Amino acid sequence: MTNTIYAVGLGPGDTMYLTPQAKAIIDNAEVVVGYTLYIDLIRDLCHNKKTIDTGMMHEVERSNLAVEEAQNGKSVAIVCSGDSSVYGMASLLFEIIDKKAYNINVEVIPGITAALSVGAELGSPLTNDFTVISLSNLLTPEQLIIKRLNAAANADMVTVLYNPRSKRRHKLIAQTKDIFLNKNPNKKIVAGYVKNAGRDNKTIWVGLLCNLNLEDIDMLTTVIIGNSQTDIIKGKMITHRGYHTKYEL
Ligand SMILES: C[S@@+](CC[C@H](N)C(=O)[O-])C[C@H]1O[C@@H](n2cnc3c(N)ncnc32)[C@H](O)[C@@H]1O
Repeated sequence: MTNTIYAVGLGPGDTMYLTPQAKAIIDNAEVVVGYTLYIDLIRDLCHNKKTIDTGMMHEVERSNLAVEEAQNGKSVAIVCSGDSSVYGMASLLFEIIDKKAYNINVEVIPGITAALSVGAELGSPLTNDFTVISLSNLLTPEQLIIKRLNAAANADMVTVLYNPRSKRRHKLIAQTKDIFLNKNPNKKIVAGYVKNAGRDNKTIWVGLLCNLNLEDIDMLTTVIIGNSQTDIIKGKMITHRGYHTKYEL
């Protein structure tokens, strides 16, 4: 028999954002594996189950533990915030199972990724083409991140920044701000961020990029930088899709 391991996206936090599919998978799992913060978010759903939680940066250890439980015949859900395939652990599970040549299926159960929950809190910044860039330099070389930021700014892309600033990594967010400000001669770029979207202690800011206070940003924050068509309307960050250029509104 082939065992299945489920990579489950929890959405931004509150169980209200958990999809019915994700909830059903967790309900049916015998073992739930995740980063401690995320296991805590779904603690109520985990009674009578074995839970395995590890600290941040232990993704490989966590995935190996989950894979071994599945190999031993247990039904396993490994949980991630947002979507499990967006800077999540889904691809790592495929890699580990392939390397170990185990006969285990991986099923990816989608969740609301931070770009979407944060986009909704800010208004409607993602109405047209957008790109998503992580500023984490742990697994991606810094030069490649900078190349991608320049490409996004040159292409007038609305840009969503995941992992924007950690306790030790402050420089990249400052460089990002400069890259986008320098590409735009009038410097009227709209930006916004949400810290802890979908959680109790949420913080929201919308303003001009030149006024973005980098000290306010941490690893629980997602930042969105608008393009030349992004405005502030009723305090919200809105990217025009172009209807006003074709139709009388
Ligand atoms: C390793 S990535 C994980 C992304 C996650 N898999 C997703 O799809 O949202 C971690 C980053 O996601 C963003 N993030 C995750 N949850 C968030 C939330 N509730 N509010 C704001 N940003 C969040 C932050 O930028 C954080 O540094």
